Amino acid sequence: EAKAQAKGSAFSFKEVEAGVDADHHVAEGYQADVLLRWGDPLFPDAPAFDPTRQTPESQAKQFGYNNDFVGYLPMPGAADPSAHGVLFVNHEYTNPHLMFPGVVEIKDGKPVMKNATPERFAIEAMAHGATVAEIRKTDGKWALVKESKYNRRITAATEMQLSGPVAGSDRVKTNADASGRKVFGTLNNCSGAMTPWGTFVSGEENFHGYFSGKLPDGHREEANYKRLAIPSAPYAWGRFEERFDLAKEPNEANRFGWVIEVDPFDPNSVPKKRTALGRFKHEGADSIVARDGRVVVYLGDDERFDYVYKFVTAGRFDPNNRAANMDLLDAGTLYVAKFAADGTVEWLPLVFGQGPLTAANGFASQADVLIETRRAGDLLGATKMDRPEDITPNGVNGRVYVMLTNNTNRKEDQVDAANPRAKNAFGHIIEIIEDGGDFTATKGKWEVLLKCGDPSVAAVGASFSTETSKNGWFGMPDNAVVDSAGRLWVSTDGNGPQETGRTDGLWAVDTEGEARRTSKLFYRVPHGAELCGPCFTPDDTTAFVAVQHPGDDGPDWPAFGRRSYYEDLSTRWPDFKPDMPVRPSVVAITKRGGGKIGV
Ligand code: FEO
Ligand code: CA
Ligand code: CA
Ligand code: CA
Repeated sequence: EAKAQAKGSAFSFKEVEAGVDADHHVAEGYQADVLLRWGDPLFPDAPAFDPTRQTPESQAKQFGYNNDFVGYLPMPGAADPSAHGVLFVNHEYTNPHLMFPGVVEIKDGKPVMKNATPERFAIEAMAHGATVAEIRKTDGKWALVKESKYNRRITAATEMQLSGPVAGSDRVKTNADASGRKVFGTLNNCSGAMTPWGTFVSGEENFHGYFSGKLPDGHREEANYKRLAIPSAPYAWGRFEERFDLAKEPNEANRFGWVIEVDPFDPNSVPKKRTALGRFKHEGADSIVARDGRVVVYLGDDERFDYVYKFVTAGRFDPNNRAANMDLLDAGTLYVAKFAADGTVEWLPLVFGQGPLTAANGFASQADVLIETRRAGDLLGATKMDRPEDITPNGVNGRVYVMLTNNTNRKEDQVDAANPRAKNAFGHIIEIIEDGGDFTATKGKWEVLLKCGDPSVAAVGASFSTETSKNGWFGMPDNAVVDSAGRLWVSTDGNGPQETGRTDGLWAVDTEGEARRTSKLFYRVPHGAELCGPCFTPDDTTAFVAVQHPGDDGPDWPAFGRRSYYEDLSTRWPDFKPDMPVRPSVVAITKRGGGKIGV
């Protein structure tokens, strides 16, 4: 039975029944409205979405594919900061079999994805990146302000600046860019965050999948690229643009794998790739202002057996001078986490010249340490984690929440205190308390807040409270957000219907008092989708969520690949029209009649 409220819980909504069908579902008393769909025109001169006649030029003026991170910043001077602002949305990747007709053919009885044509590649490149969109709530409904000067598409071709210690390094110079500072595009942007000074940051995650070709024999980047699985097959954009071919442009891949920063209030600003934050498969970059004014950014490297990081700025945040904060992310110290069995965590500095990070190990500068952040972490003996995703500092209770999504490759003899389960299929959440409650501290304490998975199956070893219902448990935590009251919300990636008869969704997780480890389902996605990017307005009256890859039933689903939008899809969300494909979309959730979400 759906629980209304566990004893001591901070959440009082009546939870949704877990399950799977073609539609999305939100808790009783709430409204979930589709706000922006793939293909929606973002400018007055943008063409209407026509899936049969899509072009790169149209896509560049329309909302992109596979929305992931969603961020919101109030419009400066807005009468109601929670009713008028800019939304920033990542477009992580493309699903050609769901985007275009005729992409899949049957060979020897098996579905095979056809190679991209140059035209299809160009559309997909324009469907990547991010969207900046001015939005306004009128009479309780959010809508795009199409005429806004702030609306912007960032794509795989947008000019960006490499900034921080790696800018100008020989290892990021290419035939097209002798300066090592000018890069085009951002790829596979997964999660992100707002900064305290009102910009957006966004992590380049699985960027290895876009590169193809072979490095020249004996090239110095061989070990570096191997550690990141570059090149990797899925996209192989080297067929269409020489810079993605390692044989022709061996350094281009060093120009990806960074956190980018975008100033949404200057639509002509050149996004910066903030190299001081390290290069790996970045999930998010959530930050908090420490007591002394320095800013601490928490960073996850989403790979099995990779690391948790944090970056502490050298400079201090000035709340009264936005311009003075704009390059805070260019200077500071990057740390990697080592979790000990005694419940302590140590943050080890990744600083050139310190410890093993010297010429003896092939590092000649801080730029070298940052380009090969993972190898630097290996040398320092950092703790190999179960796929670090969002890491969310909580300014209300002073703790930090680390989402570890899963790692089925962990063997019995690789189990440690911070990654306590072999074949970890459902993931877990770690809670950190930095020493003295100071986010800049180089030591802290930690414990496992939650081992995820179905608590009714003893072998899973989940640790949800007994108050958690059959709807309330989840696996594969990915994105997390803390609302203004300090409550934790977690969205998931991987609760596939084929395995569990339930979809991904947004869960409300109690962290305090006797309700600690109680979880409730607030919203669930349509068949085949993943839920990304929960984001609350400052007053918690709206939650924005991103429904990613609806209708994508995954490689294990028997019909995978035979499904395109002309065929038998598991859903046609959100339009439910026979001539419309599934469309990844951002959804705005509000309480009927108004009020804060979840209370
Ligand atoms: Fe793109 Fe780490 O999820
Ligand atoms: Ca995803
Ligand atoms: Ca993610
Ligand atoms: Ca994920």
